[in-house]
Amino acid sequence: MAARDPKPPILVIGGTGTVGSRLVQHPSSRCYPVIAASQSRSQTGDHDHGIVFDWHDHNTWSNPFSAAGGPLRAVYIVASPVMDSAPITMEFIDFARDKCVRRFVLQSSSATESGGPAMGKVHAYLRELGQRGEVDWAVLRPTWFQQNFGEQLFHIKFIKDESRLYSATSDAKIPWVSADDIAAVAAKCLTSPDPPNTEYLVLGPELLSYSDIADILTKVLGRKIVHVDLSRRDLEMRHQSFGVPEESSKMMSALQTSIKFGSENRTNDAILTLASATPKMFAEYAESAKAIWAGQSQETH
Ligand SMILES: NC(=O)c1ccc[n+]([C@@H]2O[C@H](COP(=O)([O-])OP(=O)(O)OC[C@H]3O[C@@H](n4cnc5c(N)ncnc54)[C@H](OP(=O)(O)O)[C@@H]3O)[C@@H](O)[C@H]2O)c1
Repeated sequence: MAARDPKPPILVIGGTGTVGSRLVQHPSSRCYPVIAASQSRSQTGDHDHGIVFDWHDHNTWSNPFSAAGGPLRAVYIVASPVMDSAPITMEFIDFARDKCVRRFVLQSSSATESGGPAMGKVHAYLRELGQRGEVDWAVLRPTWFQQNFGEQLFHIKFIKDESRLYSATSDAKIPWVSADDIAAVAAKCLTSPDPPNTEYLVLGPELLSYSDIADILTKVLGRKIVHVDLSRRDLEMRHQSFGVPEESSKMMSALQTSIKFGSENRTNDAILTLASATPKMFAEYAESAKAIWAGQSQETH
């Protein structure tokens, strides 16, 4: 950091990701210096103080604290993409607590319950530390991101090349949420004077099935986009054919099956209440991102 800002910085782990890249630019976050941490600093924008942080290289864990040159106000956690990242996430929380970090905001998911497997263990850990008065915390449980269609390579490729969306969700509804809105909620949780000390389901404003999404893309792109409803097994095989490891493909198919049986068929007003923001509709996102789906994909698999 060139000139020392008197305010303690916010550390955003995953600062180059879908939510993190929006969070580091959010006006509320930017009331503080922001340190954007990722595996590859090269992808971090000029506006950030970007540093290398690798969940799986302990030598990099001190980097944000060296860059801050003093205490951090808060840490936003996007966990490692490995299958069970809970142990390493809790280890880093303890590492940061030793360096006097008080507030942690964890990006989890609507499918993850406190105390459940994987990230659910970290929800429970933060809650327990909070009950002991040792941390301030929030857990964000966003539903599925609108941006998946424009930022995940397999969606982009098949929308461009085949005019198709694939899922195993049948006609089940999902309250697709904008990553902009998740970032707005995250920024509030990191900067609010009063600690949240709770978890929030962060759900979008309208319930849409994959077929509804295909219809909206059809209108925006001016060509027919079709939803192909696969069996759980076919979706698994499809993901594996793109190189997704078997365990991850099974996990993704399991999530889609639970959606098929109604797990995401709900909405709430968390974005309005927590971030005072009108939640974005999928059509707005599709309109803003339509250039992504123009032309043929260069990708092969
Ligand atoms: N997509 C959805 O619909 C959805 C819904 C609910 C919850 N979620 C949850 O959201 C999280 C993903 O968030 P996102 O989509 O905002 O992120 P993302 O776009 O997948 O980006 C991942 C971020 O993590 C960084 N990263 C990857 N490996 C790392 C490592 N070993 N050490 C340090 N940083 C590393 C990446 O940095 P580099 O740029 O350097 O690679 C990048 O900044 C997951 O936990 C997922 O379960 C997703």
